[in-house]
This record gives sequence, C-alpha cells and structure tokens, in this order.
Amino acid sequence: MATANKGSSYNLATYAHIIGWGMAVPERIMTNDDLSAIVETDDKWIIERTGIRERRIASEKESTATLALKAAQKALAVADILPIELDMIIVATSTPEYIFPSTASIVQNWLGATKAGAFDMSAACSGFVYAMNMASQSIRTRSIQTALVIGSETMSRIIDWTDRSTCILFGDGAGAVVLRASTTPGGVLSSVLRSDGAGWDVLSLPSVGSRDLNNAIQPNGHKAFRMHMDGPEVFRFATRVVGESISQAVADAGLTLDDIKLIVPHQANLRIISAAARALKIEESRFMVNLDRYGNTSAASIPIALVEAVQQGKVKENDYLAFCGFGGGLAWGSMVVKWGAPKPKTEERAILKEQRRQLSYTLGDLRMRLRKLGRFWENLLTRFTRRGRIQRLRDRVDKLD
Ligand code: COA
Repeated sequence: MATANKGSSYNLATYAHIIGWGMAVPERIMTNDDLSAIVETDDKWIIERTGIRERRIASEKESTATLALKAAQKALAVADILPIELDMIIVATSTPEYIFPSTASIVQNWLGATKAGAFDMSAACSGFVYAMNMASQSIRTRSIQTALVIGSETMSRIIDWTDRSTCILFGDGAGAVVLRASTTPGGVLSSVLRSDGAGWDVLSLPSVGSRDLNNAIQPNGHKAFRMHMDGPEVFRFATRVVGESISQAVADAGLTLDDIKLIVPHQANLRIISAAARALKIEESRFMVNLDRYGNTSAASIPIALVEAVQQGKVKENDYLAFCGFGGGLAWGSMVVKWGAPKPKTEERAILKEQRRQLSYTLGDLRMRLRKLGRFWENLLTRFTRRGRIQRLRDRVDKLD
C-alpha cells in the first residue's frame, strides 16, 4: 500500500518473513528393530502402517529446552541477527521443561535475548502453526519486529513404553524459525486455526493440571504423565481435516493449489499424508516427508521438515509453501508462506556477528549464575543483619533486668 506520508514507512503494510531456520535432533537413533525388543512389534508392521523406520531419542543430558536452544542458535545464525534483536520467543511444546516457568523463558535466558518476551504454546502437534500465527500477527500489527518461533519436544519422556500402538510413533527433536518484519509483500500470507474440543480425550497427556488427582491412574482409566491415544480415531480425524484445512489456507492467501510448491505437513503417519494428497487430488511428491527418520516429533515436526526441505534445495525464493499441523485438542491449523531468501552477508560481518552471538550465549549463562550468587549473599547478609538486630534487642532487654 502506498504511503501518503513520503519518507515514512509507517503506513506501509508490514509482512512477517522467515529469515532464519535451524533444527536439532538427538544423536541416539532407535530403529524399529530396537523397538521390537521392548514391545511386541516388528519393522514390517511399523513401516507398512506408519512409514516410520527410526526415531531420535534424547539422552539424559538433553531436554526440550536444550534441543530448543540448539535449533534456535542455528536459526539466529542463518538470520544473521543477535539475540538482543528478538522481541518475542515462543516455544510450541507438549513436553515443556516445567509447567512454569515456560521453556521459552529458559531459552530466552540461555540466548541472552534480554529484550524478548517469552511464553510456551500448548496446542500439541499443531503448536508450531499456532505459534507462527501469533508471532506473525504481532509483526503484522507492528507490536513487534522480530520473533523466534520454536517447536521442541522430548516425546520419549511421556510415552507409555508398554503401549505398542503409541510408542512406535514418536521421537524427539526441535526446529526453529526467525520471523522478521518487512515492507516487502510475502512471508506468512494466511492461517486457519481450528479446534474440536469434543475430541479432547482421543489424544491426551494426563498430568499436573487442575484435574490431576495425584493418582497414577486417572478416573477415566488413563495413566497420569503418560500419553493416551485412540490411534484409529486420531487417524480418522486427521484424514478428515488435513486436506480441507490446507485448501482453506490456500484460498485465504488468494492462491490455488497449483501455486503451492511444497506442502510441509505434520509428520504423523505416511498414510495420513497419502490420504491428504488423495483428498487434494495432487501428487504425494508435493508433500515434504521425513517421518521415516524422525517419527512424529509433535510440535517440532513441521520446522524440522522445513529445515530439511531447505537443505535439500526443495524451497527457492518466491516459492509458496503450505504448513499443516493436527493433533491433540483436537486442534489443527494450516498456513501459507511465501518464501524469501535472507539477505546476502559479507563473510567478515558474519564472523563478527557470530562472535557477538557466542558472547551473548556466554553472558546469558553468566547472568543466571551471578543472579544466583547475588541471591545467596543477599540472604546471608539479611540473616546476619537480622541476627544483629535480634542480638541488640536482647542486649537491651538484658540491661532492663
Ligand atoms: N505392532 C504390531 N501390531 C500392532 C501394533 C504394533 N506396533 N500396534 C497395534 N497393533 C495391532 C493391534 O493390536 C491390532 O491387532 P488386533 O487386530 O489383533 O486387535 C492391529 O494391529 C490393528 O490395530 P489398529 O489400531 O486398528 O491399527 P491401525 O492400522 O489403525 O494402526 C496406528 C495404528 C496407531 C498406527 C494408526 O491408527 C495411526 O497412525 N493413527 C494416528 C496416530 C497419530 O498419528 N497420532 C498422532 C497424531 S498427532
């Protein structure tokens, strides 16, 4: 939109462009054969029914926050920006480090992103699309300039490893993108978010919520702190909504399916992706698929698949992409993004920025240690001065005798 106020960009429309991306997965690989040593299953069944061959499992030292941090650092490096430039950090996750503080706040501290607000997004496997919507809308309304959106999960920590119909599906990992304001049309063009809470019990993680009765077994028979899933019902739901939701997001962006170069769907099951392709009457090859190597990483699956699509050269400047997430809630959502390449940078400038980023990460950790030390000394001093005051009071009382 042209501005009447020459020289000012205030009246220009603002768009939220993806300018950085990164992913992190644990090194440990668990194959289908490894799984058949834990539950009664086999490689053939898992591949035929899901398309999954292996998944990554977090080590004891890894967590949702550490994976999120690694993915975020890579995304910041691609975007070539400093953590202090971030205004908002959202971590979409179903496996947060704590109920509170948010995993996003932990990552914010580790990055040294001292000017960013931070919160977690709970929308299960649709979380990344929901978080992208929140961040891009904040940019489009000019409330912020730059956002870091992360999907990060350690599903292995909440899986019921005795339930063969769920434990074969999931894996751990994280993916992140940096969104930045620009007056160049493009970036996030549309998003459609939906929920059908009538199906809340089809896919759930009973935990310390307002309904938790501290029982190992919940009143509905589901195990606390372990994921419960009605697989066939989730399958039916997903095949019903995915195609419809993508079509809606594409239409809202003023495009047709022919304009979409690549669809990056939530990586739950190859049969769900095949069904979506049939529903949309398009070739399956237009969907990005990497679930064979990572399984379902819930909120992390779309950004991980996006990063690999970029790395494999499947995404070029000005391409239109569609993302589609679906899962617990039941919730689902789709969005259309116009891809823009990040600005070219001089090597010298990039090295300098990288050093400044590393300093910010070191200072983030140091800040936390200093804060702890400060609290320790403050407590000690308070105790001494309090003791001193009590002693003086006692002395006065003694003098009265
Ligand atoms: N290995 C071998 N057999 C298995 C098995 C496994 N890992 N899991 C289930 N089975 C068995 C069942 O016990 C059942 O046996 P039965 O007929 O003797 O009772 C049989 O396979 C068929 O079970 P069913 O649940 O109907 O299989 P399915 O074809 O629907 O596949 C899922 C099960 C979980 C793979 C499938 O329903 C699915 O992918 N659903 C969507 C789940 C999902 O994506 N969730 C996350 C969404 S974000």
